[in-house]
Amino acid sequence: MDKQADLKRIAELRKTIEYHNQRYYQQDAPEISDAEYDRLMRELQDLENRYPDEYSATSPSQRVGAAPLAKFASFNHPSPMFSLANAFSSEEILEFDSRIKRLAGVDNISYIAEPKLDGLAVNLIYENGIFKRGATRGDGTTGEDVTQNLKTISSLPLKMKHASHNPIPSFIEIRGEVYIEKIPFEKLNLRRIKDGEEPFANPRNAAAGSLRQLDSKITARRPLNIFLYGIGNVTGIDFSTHWEVLKMLHDWGFPVNRTLIEQAKDINACINYFEKIGLKRESLPYEIDGIVLKVDDLSLQRTLGNVSRSPRWALACKFPAAQETTIVKKIDVQVGRMGTLTPVAIMEPVNVGGVTVSRATLHNEDEVLKKDIRVGDTVVIQRAGDVIPEVVRVILEKRPAGTEIFTMPKHCPDCNSEIVRMEGEAAHRCVNISCPTQLKEHIRHFASRGAMDIEGLGEKVSAQLFNAKLIADPADLYFLEKDRLVALDRHAEKSAHNLIEAIKKSKNPPLDKFIYALGIRHVGERTARLLADHFGNMENLMNAKEDDLTAINEIGPEIAASILEFFHEHKNIDVMNKFRKAGVIPQKKEIQTDAPLQGKSFVFTGTMETMGRNEAKAIVENQGGTIHSAVTKSTTYVVAGSDPGSKLDKAKSSGIKIINEEEFLKLIGR
Ligand code: IVH
Repeated sequence: MDKQADLKRIAELRKTIEYHNQRYYQQDAPEISDAEYDRLMRELQDLENRYPDEYSATSPSQRVGAAPLAKFASFNHPSPMFSLANAFSSEEILEFDSRIKRLAGVDNISYIAEPKLDGLAVNLIYENGIFKRGATRGDGTTGEDVTQNLKTISSLPLKMKHASHNPIPSFIEIRGEVYIEKIPFEKLNLRRIKDGEEPFANPRNAAAGSLRQLDSKITARRPLNIFLYGIGNVTGIDFSTHWEVLKMLHDWGFPVNRTLIEQAKDINACINYFEKIGLKRESLPYEIDGIVLKVDDLSLQRTLGNVSRSPRWALACKFPAAQETTIVKKIDVQVGRMGTLTPVAIMEPVNVGGVTVSRATLHNEDEVLKKDIRVGDTVVIQRAGDVIPEVVRVILEKRPAGTEIFTMPKHCPDCNSEIVRMEGEAAHRCVNISCPTQLKEHIRHFASRGAMDIEGLGEKVSAQLFNAKLIADPADLYFLEKDRLVALDRHAEKSAHNLIEAIKKSKNPPLDKFIYALGIRHVGERTARLLADHFGNMENLMNAKEDDLTAINEIGPEIAASILEFFHEHKNIDVMNKFRKAGVIPQKKEIQTDAPLQGKSFVFTGTMETMGRNEAKAIVENQGGTIHSAVTKSTTYVVAGSDPGSKLDKAKSSGIKIINEEEFLKLIGR
């Protein structure tokens, strides 16, 4: 090989990897798949090994990630947080084992085999059993102090459990992975889409984005979870195996993945484990991207030590991502309720890991341009676990002649108004608040089930009324005349009558439903409820200043700004006046005087036999109680159904009253 060319390639790779580190660690917006990243890193490591003279302490091969963002306080890890060497096949797993045996001079090694969760690594400091500080990994030496956000994770004990067999150390670093389960992730994204926010690309990004929120009130509303899998420095306790460490972590009250972690007596058991977990992967409630093997004997771990960025005693065995190639037929640009333009690749349908894929969101213009995706291109797409498919890259060799670079339309594909890109935002928006697509979406949202719940006013009818120019905004609904409706072909006398009646019936909605129905950016059902409870009527809410809004627990500056902006907009003020004129008067939800659950708060865990969560929730709220998703000091009851989760442990460790389904039914008078 030509040395000159190799050196050039080393420099190139270092730059490219730095760039992707930045995207992955600092912006939570990776552009390439993990597999692709690993390939680049390997190529760099191979080349660096061939030219030891070219060693550089600042090469990305020597670091785990990028330096932390300036916005959080930085945190120096008392002992470094290492990364893991990767293997992709049984051969590589066997090589790892042979290497260790040779270095240790033994002929068998026993391991602990663990699933490799796809979230983000954190380091937690406990002093005398009390959670003091916690940080992200950052570059392995320095991370970001996210203590407040970690405290919002309900399964994370703030105090270690103490018993005679589990002494509490005066100092310990505990390591683990913060993640979001697949179903809560889907729900979070649906809610974001509903609230006019960009969905997260995958659970890992959602977890990272949530943990790295400056506003911990937002973090608290995200379904974050944690599993702990190791320790760093510890004072006063000696462990001899990793298995003992895991057991002790469990006894201290930390969530440890006990259902999947196994002892493996030799490397063959590890390979079997890799295959077994690979088969289970899809059915697990969270995403994993492989397994981790760790030498069980801690003194052997110490003997083996580390090579630059990773320990010699551990190995990540990665699953292959399901990838396929297909052709981009066109790139559509869709307009959302909040005016955001999203490019979407429409592709020849192709089966990826068991699911037919024909569309993939391309997120925004930058994303399309970085990957240089063009109509006619052959692209590699991938689905990791249950996640939305993504376009990984273009196969340039297959690009036909005459393709054109993608450009975002200058005018809204729907209303032809000018498209703008706000400073500091990746999204392009149609800022015309009268943009038909946005308005139609807006009206549909207003009438939808969780909002004003107007029967017979779904997507089709909203669009029909809008297109016929009978309505231009939600308030116009209340001025609809039956005769004009009947004139519309699909509206026979009877259905027109029903629709008018349904609209009329919605004139005194609960205040929270009305606030939600307005479609204020970032104001979902829960926030609407908080606002309704706090302000009591629309006037108070419309006159609220920023401080009044942020005084509410769970409302941070971003939500507050969006509410203020909404009620400053002339067009919205006009619509509010029209509502008033039409006699639309939201009702503050009265707490019934016979509210037996007044002041009591409930947390549900596990499945109930007799009713679903929503029903239980409605009953509790009707009787004056509240429902929360996380166990806190102020929780009155934790209702445990079958298969309860970590909330039960939390309740037990914090001494909160736990009741079963039968006791719950009695409490609500059933
Ligand atoms: S052990 C020195 N165990 O994988 C040991 N890591 O590339 C360092 N991860 O930063 C980590 N599950 O984010 C370990 N059971 C597990 C893990 C795990 C997921 C992640 C973690 C780490 C990365 C290493």
